[in-house]
Amino acid sequence: MKNIENMQAEITRPEKIKSSQFYADVITGLSAQPKYLNSKYFYDAVGDKLFQDLMNCEEYYPTNCELEIFSENTAGICSAIIGGGDAFDLIELGAGDATKSAYLLAYLLENNADFTYLPIDISDNVISCLNITLPVTLPGIKIKGLNGEYFEMLEKAAAVSNKRKVVMFLGSNIGNMQHDDAVDFCTNMRAHLSKGDMLLIGFDLKKNPKTILAAYNDKEGITPKFNLNLLERINRELGGNFDINKFEHYPTYDPENGACKSYLVSTCDQEVNIGPETITFVKDEYIFMEISQKFSIGQTDEMANSSGFKPIDHFFDSRKWFTDAIWIAE
Ligand code: AVI
Repeated sequence: MKNIENMQAEITRPEKIKSSQFYADVITGLSAQPKYLNSKYFYDAVGDKLFQDLMNCEEYYPTNCELEIFSENTAGICSAIIGGGDAFDLIELGAGDATKSAYLLAYLLENNADFTYLPIDISDNVISCLNITLPVTLPGIKIKGLNGEYFEMLEKAAAVSNKRKVVMFLGSNIGNMQHDDAVDFCTNMRAHLSKGDMLLIGFDLKKNPKTILAAYNDKEGITPKFNLNLLERINRELGGNFDINKFEHYPTYDPENGACKSYLVSTCDQEVNIGPETITFVKDEYIFMEISQKFSIGQTDEMANSSGFKPIDHFFDSRKWFTDAIWIAE
């Protein structure tokens, strides 16, 4: 039976919150055993800023590795993308500020490649910025930013042009999906493409376990803040009352399976209210927050093959810590 407080909260809770996907996913995850939250919700304005800080911190190597790949292999990547020279749409999923792709865009423009750049991002702000800034920094660029969910926007892109597609999915974002979800994602991607279209996809590779763990356990303590921000976001947006001082960040890396995982562990028995729901934690109970899977080259090739692509090239940084692979749709 509902208590008076819960009934009160239910009456006062805006219907908008309760009907949101964010609310539904949070309640589903925190009612599950073991508890989990979806790391895609890390990225509100505060989370975006914390992720920027993380990318600049000493231990977090993936961004610098991928920047090195793009700056040192610009011609090689572009010649693979240009292929026979026919016109194409260069689509970037989760474009952000397009720092990495800017190397490719500049090279393609200098070499008169016939392409339109279609950055896709869930953030309206990101797309508006790119639409304004890129034509200034890269004169002559044809750009059409698309604001929305990846696959919906891919459908939109296919509807407005029948040119060959080259899709970029960088930053090892694929590593934030569980293995089966990653294969489903790539299979769904293949279904949105035609034979001969390409995918340029980033993977963080297996390496010394200490190097990996340090990247997710930085000395400055940005990673814990990045994780705890999701609890604060629940407080801000869903009327939650998490006390973030009662949770501790716990990162792990298992070199046997390449899974780098982060958890928030409850430091005491406690109850947390989120709108009308009460979530109970016992001391030492954890919330699984994120997976950042690390791969061998063989595993990336296997993923390509099992989702309808053929891997045709791999580009590496000098330490071979990261790869950007080029897959062609079969
Ligand atoms: C966005 N993504 C690829 C990052 C990663 O490395 O898994 C997110 C991140 N989580 C903690 N640090 C960075």
